Amino acid sequence: MSHPLVSQFNRLRYNFYAPFYDRLAGVFAGQRRRAINLLEPLPDERILIVGAGTGLDLDFLMPCRRLTAIDISPGMLAKLQQRARSLGLAVEARVMDGEKLAFVDGEFDAVVLHLVLAVIPDPVACLREVERVLKPGGRVVVFDKFLPDAGHASLLRRSVNLMTRLIATDINRRLGEIVAATGLTKTHDEPAGFGGFFRIALLRK
Ligand SMILES: C[S@@+](CC[C@H](N)C(=O)[O-])C[C@H]1O[C@@H](n2cnc3c(N)ncnc32)[C@H](O)[C@@H]1O
Repeated sequence: MSHPLVSQFNRLRYNFYAPFYDRLAGVFAGQRRRAINLLEPLPDERILIVGAGTGLDLDFLMPCRRLTAIDISPGMLAKLQQRARSLGLAVEARVMDGEKLAFVDGEFDAVVLHLVLAVIPDPVACLREVERVLKPGGRVVVFDKFLPDAGHASLLRRSVNLMTRLIATDINRRLGEIVAATGLTKTHDEPAGFGGFFRIALLRK
């Protein structure tokens, strides 16, 4: 389902966050490196970064020659383009809704989903689109915060979520449920900080 109002809100708030986003999200360099090592992108593969933000992942994708980055926020993508230029990387950057990717089926070898499934209004719609644009056998790496699949959100956690959703991110989504709504298979899942609150997972088409 498309959520134009929430997407409009995301565009506005991330345009606002863009100038100082790196000071907050820069702390996840270790997790980004680990996630992209697990993805094992090859130099000639077509790689898509969905909800790419300011491009903090680009530092770890240096050997990749066919990078595409999309985001709903032009402000975040402008920062990404600056970073790509300073790294000497050619990146096709496009403002686009991650729930409605403007690519044909099977265009990409691998997709990076870092800190976006907990932000995008409909993570299932996003992951189904990712599945569609992946080649058979294509890989996805996810790094984000999730509620454990078998876990129950406490009243405190649900209350805190009302605030975190407004300013940043949903903390009560279950990766297992999101993946189960697609044809993708989870091949790897590991804790990635804060006692397993953050996770890194690999999916395959
Ligand atoms: C927490 S930031 C993560 C940015 C980047 N992936 C990173 O790891 O630093 C979430 C990003 O998702 C983007 N976003 C939110 N809704 C989106 C949508 N519907 N389609 C594409 N990008 C979206 C935001 O603009 C923002 O750049």
